[in-house]
Amino acid sequence: MSAYNTNRREFLASTFWMGALAATAGCVANPLKLVEPCGAPMQGFALKPMKKVRVAIIGVGVRGRAALRRIAGLPGTEIAAIADLFQDRVDSEVRWLKNAKKPAPAFAIAGPEGYKRICDSDKVDVVYNVTPWHLHEPIARYAMERGKVALNEVPGALNIDECWSLVETSERMRVPCMMLENCCYGEEEMLMLNMVKQGLFGEITHGEAAYIHDQRLLQFGGRYHTMDGAQDPIKAGRPGWTLDFYSKYPGNHYPTHGLGPVAKYMDINRGDAFDFLVSVESKAASYSHYAKSSFTDWRKDVNVKMGDINTSIIKTKQGRTILLELAACTPRPYSRLNLVSGTKGMAMGYPDFRVAFEDKAGDGRAHGFKNAAETQALRNKYRHPIWKAAGEIAKKVGGHGGMDFIMDLRWTYCLQNGIPLDTDVYDLAAWSSMVDLTRRSVNNNSRPIDCVDFTRGAWRTAKAFSIDEMDMSKLPLGIEDAKRDAEVDAVARQEGFI
Ligand SMILES: NC(=O)c1ccc[n+]([C@@H]2O[C@H](COP(=O)([O-])OP(=O)(O)OC[C@H]3O[C@@H](n4cnc5c(N)ncnc54)[C@H](O)[C@@H]3O)[C@@H](O)[C@H]2O)c1
Repeated sequence: MSAYNTNRREFLASTFWMGALAATAGCVANPLKLVEPCGAPMQGFALKPMKKVRVAIIGVGVRGRAALRRIAGLPGTEIAAIADLFQDRVDSEVRWLKNAKKPAPAFAIAGPEGYKRICDSDKVDVVYNVTPWHLHEPIARYAMERGKVALNEVPGALNIDECWSLVETSERMRVPCMMLENCCYGEEEMLMLNMVKQGLFGEITHGEAAYIHDQRLLQFGGRYHTMDGAQDPIKAGRPGWTLDFYSKYPGNHYPTHGLGPVAKYMDINRGDAFDFLVSVESKAASYSHYAKSSFTDWRKDVNVKMGDINTSIIKTKQGRTILLELAACTPRPYSRLNLVSGTKGMAMGYPDFRVAFEDKAGDGRAHGFKNAAETQALRNKYRHPIWKAAGEIAKKVGGHGGMDFIMDLRWTYCLQNGIPLDTDVYDLAAWSSMVDLTRRSVNNNSRPIDCVDFTRGAWRTAKAFSIDEMDMSKLPLGIEDAKRDAEVDAVARQEGFI
């Protein structure tokens, strides 16, 4: 039993659980699924098909603006509403829609509470939440309470209570809540998921996951508004919202880019579950070294609490291990590690996909990676069906090499065809809970901390992740329709993700 507030939840769950199961005679509105073991109430849950998916984008900063422009081009979707703190950001996206000859949104609202009017209306189906981290849970909860599908940027929630709040709201309202973990849709990640599922690496015993991205310039360059809503933090003399978090708390603030794909390789919440972790953090030096040597204004004195490198090890209930790392301010090129290791072989990448197997089956030696030609042959053979179907278009549209596009294509496809979203609120909670759990371990001299089972035991019976496929003939989307947005592209290049 974990120490965090799980008693009450487990008690409530035990009664809710029976009711929910009885009410739905299984798990889904989709009768084809009734005979399958479904796990927790929202595992395998699907809504009725939506002919047109009406999307509200809440937060049109750098990420939200890119999302809006991608989604507006997807067949069967419409940008029905836009909200942001700042009028100029809202106006710019309304203008963009007009120039792109897309329908005008029913709502375009500036201000901190505009999302409420949007969620209260019957003109949107999906609330796509691209706001700062502390607003992910309140906005998603508000949206679900009004029957809207809630899609949260990463991390989906900031602490254990927020995770429980989203789990309970999604279950109570019977609406899906998913985290927009785009790295689960990366070309290498999906290739590796396919190879894992085909059994190429044997029994999986270990994974490595990270977010290694030198963000010193990004964090001090004035691009994030302050927690109290000043658009220009440099003029305001206060850190932007991300740096504000880093200056207050240690721990892994951004665990899910690396962890999401590894959790899928291991069927976390669907046959396995996170058990406990230890988290160790280095001293904090790089941000302040950079700030002191680069600025003469208030920024030189910003005191960052988050250490340079946070390293955690998670043990799973089935005895696997996961190395989880965050290094967001050291002079180190971008990587997510993305390593999976099993009894027959291993693979790693992004970047530089590499793969190794036993030299000969059963000879107990794997001393080298496959050469370039062999690796390419494996890439071709095991390319994920979705990348086979939509990879060319995705690369043309872009967004972290096309994975952002694949992610948006996929959830719209699921909603349009009445099938469950690829991940659910339990995945959001388990992956995002690492923000809180790593901090607790660091603050307790790196002692082991129990993970929280948000499925309340249902991980034992839930159906494993599958290789999802897409019938592109149902999506009238051709390569000729695919285009990059020059403005979004330029910002992505500047910020180091493309
Ligand atoms: N998945 C990825 O690859 C990826 C990449 C970048 C950012 N992100 C995530 O996207 C989110 C946004 O990041 P960003 O870089 O775009 O930050 P940003 O600061 O550029 O954008 C956030 C936007 O939210 C708006 N906002 C703040 N409060 C609001 C409110 N009450 N109502 C409506 N809008 C509000 C802000 O005005 C701002 O425009 C974060 O959660 C971040 O972690 C994910």
